[in-house]
Amino acid sequence: MKLIGLLIVAYLLGAIPNGVWIGKAFFKTDIRQSGSGNIGTTNTYRVLGPYAGTTVMVLDIAKGTVATLLPTLLPSWVPAHTVLGSALPLLFGLMAILGHTVSIFDHFKGGKAVATSAGMLLAYNPIMFVIAAGLWVSLIYWTSMVSLASMIAFSLVTLISLFFHDWYLTGIAVALTAFVFYRHRTNITRIREGTESMVPFGHGYHK
Ligand code: G3P
Repeated sequence: MKLIGLLIVAYLLGAIPNGVWIGKAFFKTDIRQSGSGNIGTTNTYRVLGPYAGTTVMVLDIAKGTVATLLPTLLPSWVPAHTVLGSALPLLFGLMAILGHTVSIFDHFKGGKAVATSAGMLLAYNPIMFVIAAGLWVSLIYWTSMVSLASMIAFSLVTLISLFFHDWYLTGIAVALTAFVFYRHRTNITRIREGTESMVPFGHGYHK
């Protein structure tokens, strides 16, 4: 029972819609009504500026990190041995990602899973996180599109994970890459049409 309770805590942590709440609390703006309409880092940056965007990125990453660390931080809440073994933290990270994308605080809608997945990676495999972050930033510089950079970065992380011989990590990377592509389907349409929002963000962009 304690394990289920802790998994629910991970879900609720992930469900916190930082972009929505920060936008409403400090800018009297609902970011769901502007830009791409997404609640994540990119749209917060686009609509509310770099400070708000960076804050949301840090908090969204932190959700995934803290959730993934929960079984380590609260060992008495989890059974000593589970069938998942050392991969149990990944289940907690996935619960945070579920919360972020299907949020009880956002009418069971949510974000595109990029930052919260990165947070899970930071807790589970920090070296892989550093590689992923470096790739993501480089790809944004190269493509000028955060959405495209995110999708390519997830794909590359999946390939690079093979070098770690951690089949839980590779399996989840494959699943998350497919999920991230699915969540970016409107972005993919805009990329194909040549209308995707480019960095640095201009004004007048609508989903
Ligand atoms: O983190 C989501 C990003 O990859 C795309 O965001 O607002 O351009 O749809 P957005």
